[in-house]
Amino acid sequence: MTTFPNDFLWGGATAANQIEGAYDQGGKGLSIQDLMPNGIKTRPTDEPVPENLKLEAIDFYHRYAEDIAMFAEMGFTVFRFSIAWSRIFPNGDEQEPNEEGLAFYDRVLDECEKHGITPLVTISHYETPAHLAREYDGWTDRRLIDMYVRYASVLFERYGKRVKHWLTFNEINAIMHEPLLAGAIWTPKDELSDQARYQAIHHELVASARATKVAHETIPDAMVGCMVIAGPNYPLTPDPSDAMKALQADQANFAFGDVHVRGEYPGYFKRTLREKGVELEITDQDRADLRNTVDFVSFSYYMSACETADPAKQIKGEGNIMGGVPNPTLEASEWGWQIDPQGLRYALNQFWDRWQVPLFIVENGLGARDELVEVDGQKTVIDDYRIDYMNDHLYQVGEAVQDGVEILGYTSWGCIDLVSASTAQLSKRYGFIYVDRNDDGSGTQERFRKKSFDWYREVIASHGGSLTAPEA
Ligand code: BG6
Repeated sequence: MTTFPNDFLWGGATAANQIEGAYDQGGKGLSIQDLMPNGIKTRPTDEPVPENLKLEAIDFYHRYAEDIAMFAEMGFTVFRFSIAWSRIFPNGDEQEPNEEGLAFYDRVLDECEKHGITPLVTISHYETPAHLAREYDGWTDRRLIDMYVRYASVLFERYGKRVKHWLTFNEINAIMHEPLLAGAIWTPKDELSDQARYQAIHHELVASARATKVAHETIPDAMVGCMVIAGPNYPLTPDPSDAMKALQADQANFAFGDVHVRGEYPGYFKRTLREKGVELEITDQDRADLRNTVDFVSFSYYMSACETADPAKQIKGEGNIMGGVPNPTLEASEWGWQIDPQGLRYALNQFWDRWQVPLFIVENGLGARDELVEVDGQKTVIDDYRIDYMNDHLYQVGEAVQDGVEILGYTSWGCIDLVSASTAQLSKRYGFIYVDRNDDGSGTQERFRKKSFDWYREVIASHGGSLTAPEA
């Protein structure tokens, strides 16, 4: 028996900068990622350096047809990918788009169409043109709103007949923690004022709302969603002060969804601004623009975290952008991200109760080191750890469906191995498909099906019926 709705979309997710490579081909300009050889660990370089694995990534730019065919073999009904802004507007501030860049995504969409795969497109996924970061200090500058809306409008015009599902910004709340990655803000984060950071947040939120409006006008049946990091915060102890801390940490995240769904800033957010002495420049037009709300909320989910009011215990662990105080009851991945399948059901219920709009899980998965072995003459990876992780998370999605949560679909992160956003490594692998490329840049780029490839095909074919209840 399966609990998933009949039209539930099953698939995988990627981002242009983590798969395409060809960083200087097809008229593409530099993006911030081309200057980030160490991910978020160090300051960006002035020029691209050969150690940056993203410059070639997994060469999706040339291998997209083969890769999408493998997704189809698994039975994907949806493929989430992003469009590299710097392929369309190389510097970001041009008036006219780059036709060669647009034509590339036409070809990607042709392949999706050929295999009956629904495209889910992220307009901006951590890959703002570098020029906008260096010359404008990214989203701190109000002029980026118009540039982004121009870029998004070009995409809606060009692809609107074929793409109905759009996400405006990847993990928009990540700007709180990684202003360069998520806000293209060149100023080092320890020098960034609260005033500038929150103004940048406001600009992104207005840009997202304006793009949503244009999408609805251009594509009558468009479904536009925001995209946030979901990471529920649990109180470390039953102490009410810990519970309040956990609530406030959740609210810091909810604020982004609240604006996207409700069209205005919530009271607790205004309080934060007051307490930080931030006075946002908000025009009447901005307020009107924010009223263009989204059709659904999408999110990434990798982990939960704990919060405590006790300063002595406020020691942050590793984690997806945000991290938090480690939960003593949970185990972690090799990269220290704690594994909490029930947290996904928890987040789904929180979001549904709060917003009452459909939800889409557009990232979830396990980054792990894989070993390529030979079985019956075929190279593969026996990734039972990944299968267990995904089974347990998807099982909880099924539980949430039974809780009454409306869920549009699930795209696992890095359905094909790709370059990590936080560490810029290829050895942190998420895929069902192994890519022969290593951290030192060596490798043939050949693709191999992992054990999880067949497992996921079975999950999709059975519409979730093959998922098993986690061991008690
Ligand atoms: C999300 C991002 O934060 O997590 C992805 O949207 C990223 O771009 C993913 O790759 C996994 O993180 P990482 O650091 O393991 O690549």
